[in-house]
Amino acid sequence: MQYPSHGANYQTLYERFQIPMPEKVYDLSENVNAFGFPAAIKEKWHQLLRHIMTYPHPEAEPLRTLLAQKHHVKRENLLIGNGAAELLTFFAGRFTNQKVIIVHPTFSEYKTTLEAQKAKLVELAVENITAYQLPIEQIKKQMKDAACLYLCNPNNPTGSLIPKKTIEELLIFGKALGCEILVDEAFMDWTDETQSAIPLIEWYPNLTVLRSMTKMYGIAGIRLGYFIGRKELVEELNDKLPHWHVNALAIEVGKWCLEDEAFRHESIAKHAEIKARLEHYLLEKQCIITNSATNFLCFQLKEPEKTQDFYFDCLRKGVVLRHTENFYGMDGKWLRIGIKKAEAMEKFQQIMDEWYGQ
Ligand SMILES: Cc1ncc(COP(=O)(O)O)c(C=O)c1O
Repeated sequence: MQYPSHGANYQTLYERFQIPMPEKVYDLSENVNAFGFPAAIKEKWHQLLRHIMTYPHPEAEPLRTLLAQKHHVKRENLLIGNGAAELLTFFAGRFTNQKVIIVHPTFSEYKTTLEAQKAKLVELAVENITAYQLPIEQIKKQMKDAACLYLCNPNNPTGSLIPKKTIEELLIFGKALGCEILVDEAFMDWTDETQSAIPLIEWYPNLTVLRSMTKMYGIAGIRLGYFIGRKELVEELNDKLPHWHVNALAIEVGKWCLEDEAFRHESIAKHAEIKARLEHYLLEKQCIITNSATNFLCFQLKEPEKTQDFYFDCLRKGVVLRHTENFYGMDGKWLRIGIKKAEAMEKFQQIMDEWYGQ
């Protein structure tokens, strides 16, 4: 059975599995903000018309400066991309024939983009999926002749946080050996930011942090992500990226998102409340859950061998979860669930209640 490699775009899933699509479908397979995007985007949408006919600023200004200010870094250390996904592709382009380490289960695009560039992948796995505890000694052993280590923090699909002190320990080790570390913080803005590696940038030239604006600000269709790292790397990647790769509408929308800090705080609070209720429910059903700091988590049924049946039962009844068939170490025995509005979560719980005959 050919499972898709990402969440979202659920219509394709129904077509692929030839399951009649219910009239109402709740997509819990992706992790975009359940409460949409900042109100200013709708209110000021008409203002975008004047940007349609002109080329965007080639360095995505004023957004680049605003983001640098937000993170207390220099403008020259920040590079905006057409989504974090675009930057991952260009970053991977530097590792042809070089050794790169990834730690599973993690975001599938690392492997995809690195393999496309013919990097030599070393794939390690965490010992404990719920806590996503890194195999530090194995990582250090591999770092000795590796060009880069990729880390995802909070990790997708588990949602778990890697402590900043662990990342710093690896940075110190890598700095001495000439091994870079990419920390993908696409979901860090769902946390209190205390574990973000961004403040370490000025001490470790071997560190690059990747951020995405698409999840928190509900703008996955607009596309915005950015790198923070050493100036030379920013320049090197900028030279490779197409001119005007960040479109003018995205620059404006990104600016409006940054102006609405209250939206971010409210989103965190609303999702946290729903997530706490979901965790409680899943534990009552004797599921194992990952230790998530963000707006999604993974769970395992008390009968993991029935995961596929449960996944398809949910699909047939209009709830789309994220399978874990292509997450190394999870092997389809877990499901990822994005936190969505109460109605969607209630539907999920109703299906699970029925599944357990309650
Ligand atoms: C961990 C992680 N990094 C990066 C991305 C790409 O984000 P963007 O939408 O900004 O391209 C995703 C998207 O799902 C993700 O989960």
